[in-house]
Amino acid sequence: MANIKYLFISLMFLLRMVHTKSRNAIYPLSEVPRFILMDNEVPWDYNLPSYDPPEYNAKSIFNQPWADPKIDDVNFNPKYNEIDGKINRKSHNGVYNVKNKTPLNPMGRTGIKGRGRLGRWGPNHAADPIVTRWKLMGGDKVLNEMTNLPILQFCGVQRRDNGQWALPGGMVDPGEKVSETLKREFLEEAMNSLEATEEQRKVDSEIVENFFKNGVEIYKGYVDDPRNTDNAWMETVAVNFHDNTGEILDKFNLKAGDDAKNVTWIDIDKNLDLYASHLQFIEKVVEKHKSHW
Ligand SMILES: *[C@@H]1O[C@H](CO)[C@@H](O)[C@H](O)[C@H]1NC(C)=O
Repeated sequence: MANIKYLFISLMFLLRMVHTKSRNAIYPLSEVPRFILMDNEVPWDYNLPSYDPPEYNAKSIFNQPWADPKIDDVNFNPKYNEIDGKINRKSHNGVYNVKNKTPLNPMGRTGIKGRGRLGRWGPNHAADPIVTRWKLMGGDKVLNEMTNLPILQFCGVQRRDNGQWALPGGMVDPGEKVSETLKREFLEEAMNSLEATEEQRKVDSEIVENFFKNGVEIYKGYVDDPRNTDNAWMETVAVNFHDNTGEILDKFNLKAGDDAKNVTWIDIDKNLDLYASHLQFIEKVVEKHKSHW
């Protein structure tokens, strides 16, 4: 009995952890209010006959090359839970349910149906590089006064859409390997490769290519993202690239670009306010490096 209770509590904790930002009151960049849910009403197997969420499909995604067609388009016959042509419709979290051609969020109800601002029905795959170095002063690691642990820094970008600081990640293009997405997004957002001269781009690509050879996977799966809906959700692979001496990263010419309006080294601390679940990924990096939190 005690075990079952414990299991239930951990499950609820997990749910809360992965599913709070995607239950914000108003859907981002819209005026559509989410159907308000209690924590216990989130799982699909909880019977909730009164559940009648509004539907939202942002106009900005219609007819975009990176987005799926409307769900009732007769030519749209997605192969859910499969690699569908070049599009990965598999979830890192296992097989998800599909009801009337519509995939169901594996973490439960979100209070809104449709796909909101997300391009794909079902999983929308992203990759997030966590590029870290030690905070140094005169060649020595800087310790936090309270914890007496060395301070780790990560490369953060400020998002153009909502001004929040985040990891310089982005969406996996159709047919693209996650390892390629990590490099491409870092180059685009933190090194402005889209606007660099060909010469600069070549230099930058080469140093990123070399440095990104030794990544450690930190997280793979569902992301508690404010854009998630009942039928579309974000998933990511977060990978840590750490430079223990800082000498390699010194050569990086950081410059915000693409979806980022600013880029900087951020001292890691548990009180940071970051986009989506990014702080949770960073906490795992901290555990790995035994640094200040
Ligand atoms: C970028 O962010 C840093 C750190 O918050 C800040 O000091 C700097 O003024 C910002 N730069 C711009 C152009 O906003």
